[in-house]
Amino acid sequence: QANKNAFPKDFLWGSASAAYQVEGAWNEDGKGPSIWDEFVKVPGTTFKNTNGDVAVDHYHRVEEDIRLMAEMGLKTYRFSIAWARIFPTSMDEVNQKGLDFYHKLIDLCLENGIEPMVTIYHWDLPQFLQEKYRGWESREVITDFKKYVVTLFEAYGSKVKYWITINEQNIFTRMGWLTAQHPPKMSGEEKLYYQVNHNVFLAHAEAVLAFQDLVPDGMIGASFALHPSYAIDCKPENVVAKMDYDDLKNYWWMDVYAHGRYPKAAMKYLQTKGVAPELEPGDAELLAEAAKHVDFMGVNYYRSDTVEYNPLDGVDSSSVFNTTGEKGSMTVPGVPGLYKNPLNPNLPTTDWDWTIDPIGIRVGCRDITSRYDLPIIISENGLGAFDTLEEDGSIHDPYRIAYLSEHLKEIKLAIEEGSEVLAYCTWSFTDLLSWLNGYQKRYGFVYVDQYEEAVEPSLKRYKKDSYFWYKDVIASDGKTL
Ligand code: BG6
Repeated sequence: QANKNAFPKDFLWGSASAAYQVEGAWNEDGKGPSIWDEFVKVPGTTFKNTNGDVAVDHYHRVEEDIRLMAEMGLKTYRFSIAWARIFPTSMDEVNQKGLDFYHKLIDLCLENGIEPMVTIYHWDLPQFLQEKYRGWESREVITDFKKYVVTLFEAYGSKVKYWITINEQNIFTRMGWLTAQHPPKMSGEEKLYYQVNHNVFLAHAEAVLAFQDLVPDGMIGASFALHPSYAIDCKPENVVAKMDYDDLKNYWWMDVYAHGRYPKAAMKYLQTKGVAPELEPGDAELLAEAAKHVDFMGVNYYRSDTVEYNPLDGVDSSSVFNTTGEKGSMTVPGVPGLYKNPLNPNLPTTDWDWTIDPIGIRVGCRDITSRYDLPIIISENGLGAFDTLEEDGSIHDPYRIAYLSEHLKEIKLAIEEGSEVLAYCTWSFTDLLSWLNGYQKRYGFVYVDQYEEAVEPSLKRYKKDSYFWYKDVIASDGKTL
């Protein structure tokens, strides 16, 4: 039986987090404010106005959290670095205490046999860059991002092998410039949205090229929020709608990371609409050169989408989510004239209306393998749910175990079918702040006593049933699945 196991011996069984969602200590040891520290001050932007000032206090409890990871047998921990800890108020001065914190975190991982996996940017841009030139809207950010990444590569390059440049560029730009749910809270700015994305691509490309010189033995790529799609039926117009959807919602990003160019049909469509990004001389060459050096496709997978042709009937594409983060009915998103995304009648949904589709992760892996022939790092996958802390300190989360186990079985099939999957990181290790949804939407293996109304939360850690389940999966190299 042993040789039937698709998961390689050195498979990186992991878990992930992001600085703003776990660290807290938002203004300690010289850290400057980020755009999220500012954004959450505006009442009504997040569920019950919850913010990440304390988050789950990972900054002060990092030893305990890594100890819990080591006890579980975790092979990799993906975390992000807060840019505003390293450069708090200007790009001219490095904050040594910020650098020291991540040295400590990385060293703790290494001492415990856990491979650190660093996300360079997980949405928390330093506020001073927003004020100076409106952050990602200006090409000036490319130079500053390069300076930031070079600082990180020089500091940690000898200790960290796996690097993720940008987390979910497609999500933070959409929610920042189209749906006004993230900073800078703009709505329907389509042209700017594509220009911002272009700037992020260029920053990512500069990082990839700098990496070649500074961390020649490392591996680098971006992490993308993948939405594999299905045409609702075999009507040819719905199949074309699926192609339009994929070009505009998936390949627009993945093609640039992996091939260094934009998909043609989508570019033509955006040019006709007058919202295509403007490229400056040298941009195309930079993107193409960087793509040659990308080592993997990072994939965050939560759900798939269903696609149907959308005649010009005025469906509003901007109202995908409700802004409070509370469970509520979703309107049908889409692009009038191209596609809309009705709910898939064959799939269940989470308490937050996200479709649960384990096969979707296999569809995604297969597609990436065929289209790009790159190794894959699943950098996020998980279930946000309400959990109950029992009086005896236990948390029974069979729904999470079922979700993760079904997804892992499909990844196993994808590997058997030829995809090279290097790592699987669940979202998340401890519970954490779900950007807009407060602490009620829990993802972790470890429950944290933190909640929206808490004045002085105990922040105590409790192992959920899924913690013990994943421990067994890791120990058996996936054979217990
Ligand atoms: C991804 C992000 O979009 O999904 C995470 O990279 C995020 O930071 C996760 O927390 C789950 O989303 P949400 O909205 O449920 O917290």
